Amino acid sequence: MSKVVVFDHPLIQHKLSIMRDHRTGCKEFRELLDEISMLMVYEVTRDLQTEDVQIETPICVTNTKMLAGKPIGIIPILRAGLGMVDGILNLIPNAKVGHIGLYRDPDTLNPVEYYCKLPEDAEHRELIVLDPMLATGGSASAAIGFIKQRGCHNIRLVNLIAAPEGIARLQKDHPDVDIYVAALDDHLNEHGYIVPGLGDAGDRLFGTK
Ligand code: PRP
Ligand code: URA
Repeated sequence: MSKVVVFDHPLIQHKLSIMRDHRTGCKEFRELLDEISMLMVYEVTRDLQTEDVQIETPICVTNTKMLAGKPIGIIPILRAGLGMVDGILNLIPNAKVGHIGLYRDPDTLNPVEYYCKLPEDAEHRELIVLDPMLATGGSASAAIGFIKQRGCHNIRLVNLIAAPEGIARLQKDHPDVDIYVAALDDHLNEHGYIVPGLGDAGDRLFGTK
């Protein structure tokens, strides 16, 4: 069974509360998503491998540590996942970025794929899939399924807000994928929206409604 990590850091909770507020406009919403993503990735990458290296400081030669192991790939699910990319690249500037385009059919709530472009060496990377919202889990599950079809196995999922239904779906479909969320909300409403949630993440991010 995969691990679910819920961040209870006061800075993250504070920023997320502002994002949830319906009065928060597009610009501030975007900036906050960027900031929270950066704060989250610090913890999401806590178990990355390091190796001992020897360097020379201005004072002496010393043994210290640097990142080792697989390089990182980040894969936002379009559209809303795009809002998490820059915050993560601030901390991991050498990460390669793949994109998966999916939208959720408003009637069936099933994901429809329209784009997929991953780094050529994706299967040799530690992959971080990004989407602010994990509602039914259909989109994230399908995206991770596509990535696995490409031979990738080291995958973690980062969401801003998850519903229990989405977590259950992910743990059933992809028990090997750890999930990191800033908040675990109460339930889904009859339209598949997370309650209390923050509304439609893509529309609030890009100002399309
Ligand atoms: C939203 C969100 C997720 C999906 C979550 O995207 O960004 O991708 O819904 O719902 P699910 O867990 O029930 O699949 P949406 O389909 O609205 O597309 P958009 O990002 O282009 O607005
Ligand atoms: N997609 C969103 O953007 N918000 C939700 O609450 C559910 C799916």
